[in-house]
Amino acid sequence: MRSYVVSFCFLLLPLTTHGTPLEQANPEQGKVLYESYCAACHGDDGHGLVPGTPDLDHDSKLFAQGWDLIFKRVRDGFQSPGSPMAMPPRGGTDLSDEELWDILAYMRDAFYTKK
Ligand code: HEC
Repeated sequence: MRSYVVSFCFLLLPLTTHGTPLEQANPEQGKVLYESYCAACHGDDGHGLVPGTPDLDHDSKLFAQGWDLIFKRVRDGFQSPGSPMAMPPRGGTDLSDEELWDILAYMRDAFYTKK
């Protein structure tokens, strides 16, 4: 019985030691996806091409919100008060949650950590 419990714990270990989705995400893959699905509105450099898009490259307030909230907004879409345009859910695509995290990892590397 005891060894049962011990091996059960070992089975759970890989689940509990997984980091956050952002730490596991693949920024190289995210770059390709960002350029295909997000850059049309946000620009390759994140500065924003469409009226109402934030400057992803310089908006330190945006990143200060924390990645969980940013993820939710990208997944569910949102519109801030007075904004001329909404962020469409998943950027108007059917990208998976994993792919969205890949994109956020790319955004972190390209736009955020260089500050
Ligand atoms: C059709 C144009 C469009 C596309 C495509 C688009 N966005 Fe947006 N995005 C917006 C607009 C407009 C806003 C600002 C909305 C507002 O503040 O009301 C925004 C806001 C954001 C924000 C800021 C969130 C915040 O908390 O302020 C992030 C991050 C973001 N988009 C990421 C993405 C990602 C990742 C993709 C690709 C999967 C994407 N966007 C595709 C138009 C777009």
